[in-house]
Amino acid sequence: MAFSETGKVWMNGKLVDWKDATIHVATHVVHYGTGVFEGIRAYDSSHGPNVFRLNEHMRRLQDSCRVYRMEPSFSFEELNDAVLETIRANGFKSCYIRPLVYRGYEQLGVNPMPCPVDVAVIVWEWGQYLGEDALANGVDVGVSSWTRLAPNTLPAMAKATANYANSGLIKMQATVDGYAEGIALDESGLLSEGSGQNLFLVRDNVVYTPSLASSVLEGITRNTVIQLTKDLGFEVREQPLPREFLYLADEAFFCGTAVEVTPIRSVDKITVGGGRRGPVTTALQERFFAIVRGEQPDVHQWLTPVGNTVAAK
Ligand SMILES: Cc1ncc(COP(=O)(O)O)c(C=O)c1O
Repeated sequence: MAFSETGKVWMNGKLVDWKDATIHVATHVVHYGTGVFEGIRAYDSSHGPNVFRLNEHMRRLQDSCRVYRMEPSFSFEELNDAVLETIRANGFKSCYIRPLVYRGYEQLGVNPMPCPVDVAVIVWEWGQYLGEDALANGVDVGVSSWTRLAPNTLPAMAKATANYANSGLIKMQATVDGYAEGIALDESGLLSEGSGQNLFLVRDNVVYTPSLASSVLEGITRNTVIQLTKDLGFEVREQPLPREFLYLADEAFFCGTAVEVTPIRSVDKITVGGGRRGPVTTALQERFFAIVRGEQPDVHQWLTPVGNTVAAK
């Protein structure tokens, strides 16, 4: 979906018009992928819009900065406020939020450290990443021939722009092959994750997801689903999982900020379970949307109110 190219972007402490939120072509991040970012959603509710798991996302942003030796000149609290301020300035009730910390304009040697650490927050209205139909009917996916980031190469737990070169390869291959998404294996051939979402499988009413040792991003939605699985009384196991588990599972689904909770109906043209959204996936999806939309009590304190939504002049 194309941007509307209107509204405000937060750049290094100031709200600027969308068209003015630009950087120079000699900026370090453009050449060397020296950025870290977050993807967050705000959802509307009968009490006004809320950001889902703002603190956890901003903590992961800080963690990513730490791995890459970047120190933004804004505190955790200031960055949280920047997110809320940017949503309010754009007058959105529900939107996708993209905080970005990156090495800026100074020189173009490989060493990023002489370059400034710049920060931006972009927000836009973004519907379901894999299409509305995907939530109800599921998606067809294929196992990628690209391997996920090998341990001790690019750190998978940091949400860094550089990681998405690998994600782009997975996504392009899947698209060319006619799949909605690709599932990548880790360096040992075990299940890892999709190009931009975590993977869950259900077999005999036990819910499985690859462990952090399988080069996965520690997804905030992954963590949410693990908690909701326990809340619903199912057993959940984070463990190494062989590829064939995909074909033997009763149910499979992706989760992530962009895809939310999206069922997988086939892998490599092999039908998963009954080829439709299964009962465990349905229960988790319903609970997830009820919570993010404020329709159920926020027992885990996952929602941060955006506050009064006044569009900027
Ligand atoms: C590679 C990858 N895995 C998993 C996820 C899901 O993470 P989250 O639930 O925090 O959005 C994302 C999305 O950010 C991602 O890019």
